[in-house]
Amino acid sequence: MKVALVTGGSAGIGKITSRELAKQGYHVLIAARDQVKGDSVVAQIKADFPDASAEFVAVDMSSYDDVRALCEDIKARFDHIDRLILNAGLFTSRIRKNEAGHEYMFAATHMGHFLMTHELMPLLKASDNARIVVTSSVAHWVGNVLNFMDTIENPPKGDKGMLKQFLLYGRSKLANILFVNGLVKYFKDEGVDTIQVFAYHPGGVKSEFYRQFPDMVTKVVFPFLVSEEKGADTQIYLATDPNLKATGGHWCRRNPDFRSPSAKSEPLTKQLWEYSERALGIDRFGS
Ligand SMILES: NC(=O)c1ccc[n+]([C@@H]2O[C@H](COP(=O)([O-])OP(=O)(O)OC[C@H]3O[C@@H](n4cnc5c(N)ncnc54)[C@H](OP(=O)(O)O)[C@@H]3O)[C@@H](O)[C@H]2O)c1
Repeated sequence: MKVALVTGGSAGIGKITSRELAKQGYHVLIAARDQVKGDSVVAQIKADFPDASAEFVAVDMSSYDDVRALCEDIKARFDHIDRLILNAGLFTSRIRKNEAGHEYMFAATHMGHFLMTHELMPLLKASDNARIVVTSSVAHWVGNVLNFMDTIENPPKGDKGMLKQFLLYGRSKLANILFVNGLVKYFKDEGVDTIQVFAYHPGGVKSEFYRQFPDMVTKVVFPFLVSEEKGADTQIYLATDPNLKATGGHWCRRNPDFRSPSAKSEPLTKQLWEYSERALGIDRFGS
């Protein structure tokens, strides 16, 4: 049976993609923090598609111990992974840090996914055709205005400024695209042609994502947002379309999309990759 892991699969875009993958016959591992919410999504999938196979697996993507423990469990139970949907992400209205001292959005959105991909690489390589789909955002353009590596190596001090938070959110989404660039290079260097990898922007989506935005912003923005189903369309396309032969890049509405200058930068791609390996104590990525 084909196996898919969807981080942030218990709500919003990830929930729609989890349902679709389960409907298409994948065994779907839905990974997120809230067990009650996750179990109810699994129950709904099974009620709607009685032959579907899905389960909830608890993980906080900002906790590297959590990510390692989940990957150990997965490696003990499965010998391949066919779809890795790196979708978990959030906006925090105040600066928070994880146990390693990384700013929370960056930790959950980039570092946790980098670590998860490293840990699960042998299972991805064991698939005859695997795909990795990373949810980024048009907000990655905002990351351009920061001195990217400097703000990572010297995290900002406690502050609750909404503008700063938005910059940091944009930075985490820029990291998503740089990670995809790095994976393309990694697969090329390793001579692996069985794994495709994509970043994409889902559009502005009416989901729980906006729960930490000020009410005023939500009221103004909400009428312009699309449904969760529309938001998940490109993610599902990149994960499942049998005719898609491309790899890499940042996509939107099923097509390659503009990347900011920083998102195309080879030096930034390299610097972030090396920083992530160093900070996570990874000697050789993927092994
Ligand atoms: N909505 C938009 O307009 C929009 C636009 C561009 C990009 N995006 C991106 O799209 C992705 C999905 O967003 P969405 O709109 O579907 O949001 P959502 O409805 O809030 O869903 C987010 C999912 O991620 C999980 N999650 C959040 N923090 C986590 C953590 N630390 N560890 C593990 N799981 C975590 C949530 O479950 P738990 O809370 O239970 O952990 C939930 O399943 C995110 O990466 C977001 O940045 C969204």
